[in-house]
This record gives sequence, structure tokens and C-alpha cells, in this order.
Amino acid sequence: EAETHITDYDFSYEGPFGAFDQMQLQRGLQVYTEVCAACHGLKYVSYRNLADEGGPGLPEDQVRAYAAQFETFDEELDDFRPATPADKFPESALPEAPDLSLMAKSRAGFHGPYGSGLNQLFKGMGGPEYVASLLTGYEEAPACAPEDFAGYYNVAFASGGFPESCIDDEGHHEVPGSWIAMPPPLLGDDVTYEDGHEASVVEEAKDVTAFMMWTAEPKMMARKQAGFTGVLFLGLLAVLLYFTNKRIWHRAK
Ligand code: HEM
Repeated sequence: EAETHITDYDFSYEGPFGAFDQMQLQRGLQVYTEVCAACHGLKYVSYRNLADEGGPGLPEDQVRAYAAQFETFDEELDDFRPATPADKFPESALPEAPDLSLMAKSRAGFHGPYGSGLNQLFKGMGGPEYVASLLTGYEEAPACAPEDFAGYYNVAFASGGFPESCIDDEGHHEVPGSWIAMPPPLLGDDVTYEDGHEASVVEEAKDVTAFMMWTAEPKMMARKQAGFTGVLFLGLLAVLLYFTNKRIWHRAK
């Protein structure tokens, strides 16, 4: 396993009471649409979900207008037509670029120590932290690499190419990360946010990552709510059972 640099970013949806930040999801959708969608797809997400409660919460008319910007292939018409809210986002335009629908949950940012998984227990899986770190993880290629080595050097990416000349005699990687085929997608001020939020690389990365966490787990808010109700209910039940037990056995004790 290559060494990688992962930053433990704070997200609003972390913790038992954490919730998605609607404005952040809308900003993330904007970054996705204007930057990432040039190569990546979101094929498991329907446009109508953009109106869902607990998600970006776009008004219905905005969802219709958003969908109508895209063309979708209609099997019945045997032709392309403007997309409607019932359609899904397109697949990746670039075949080598993986679909991003579930990416935030299919990667882990935290591992170990020593394969124990303790970091994941305390910090979470770190999928979003990994994605945000990847987007901010581009650096100038280290001197040990040949000038023409394929790809872009990224300190958060573990599974890419790695030049022999950067591996020492004992087989250890001399530099963190590896080389990735994705060119740095965010350079800062790639979008103009309507809410006036700062469009630095880190802020854009956190916003699009939060959006990707929502596409990967759109029902997270409902799940946390149900979990809390369940725990509350079990707590109450425990109290009732305690007194019931006392009452039933009060003559025997
Ligand atoms: C891979 C995110 C923009 C091309 C990836 C991966 C993520 C990602 C999470 C997977 C890394 C992994 O396997 O662990 C994003 C986001 C973008 C964006 C959030 C917008 C901010 C782009 C653009 C292009 C692109 C504009 C094309 C110019 C690729 C390619 C890969 C990739 C080719 C595969 C890289 C490899 O396996 O070496 N991207 N991406 N991405 N992306 Fe992007």
C-alpha cells in the first residue's frame, strides 16, 4: 500500500446529528455540472432527485430547466430528446473516467494502523475526505521521476502508475501517492457561486465532495432520523421493562 496524504476535512453531515448543507449541495452540483461532467457520469442519479428533501432541494421548475439542458436517448423514439426530471444523468463522457454516483462511498480515506481499522472506527471510512484530498492533491512531479512519465502526480492517489526510479533498493516508494490519468480538474475560480461563497480549490473540492456524498447516500438524513427514533424508543422501552420487572417480582424480593 502506497503512502498517501489524506486531510481529515470536516463536513456538516458528520456525526449522529449531522445534516447535509443544502447550499453546499447546490454549489457542489454546480461544480459537478460545469467541471466534472465534461468527463464523468452520474448514471445512477435521476434529475428528479435534485428536488428531494434532505438533498439539494431544488424547486421543481428548476429541476425541469436543469434536465432540459441535456439530451437523452429515448429508445421508443429511437432518437435523442431533451431530458425530463424522470431521466437519469448521463454516463461518463470519457470511458476511462469512472462514474461518480457512488464514488464517495466506494473509496476509503483512512486505514490502519497496522490493518486494525481503528482509524475508520474513530474517523469514519473517509471516502469524502479521500475525494477532497485527491482534488487538492496535485503537486509538481518529484525530481526522481522521468520528465515524460505518463500522468499527473497526486499525493492522495494510491493506485496509479509509479516510476521505478522513485523506488529505493528496499522496494519502498520514495514519494507519497502516485501518477493519475485525470488532469487537475480544479484550479480555483472554476465556477462563480451564486451565493457568493469563496471558489478556492479547497472550497470547490469540499462542495463537490459533499454533493457526491449525497449522490452516494441520498437517504442519509432519513437514516439518521430513523436511527435516533429507534434509540429513543429502545431507551423508553428499557425504562418501562425495568419497572414492569420490579412490579412483577416485588413480592419475591
Ligand atoms: C478519476 C473525481 C473531473 C478524468 C476520478 C476519480 C475521482 C474523480 C474521485 C477516481 C479516483 C480513484 O480511482 O480513486 C473528479 C471530480 C471532478 C473530476 C470531482 C470535477 C471536479 C475530471 C475531468 C476529467 C476527469 C474534467 C477529464 C478531463 C478522470 C479520469 C480518471 C478520473 C481519466 C481515471 C484516473 C485514473 O484511474 O488514473 N475523478 N473528476 N475527471 N477522472 Fe475525474
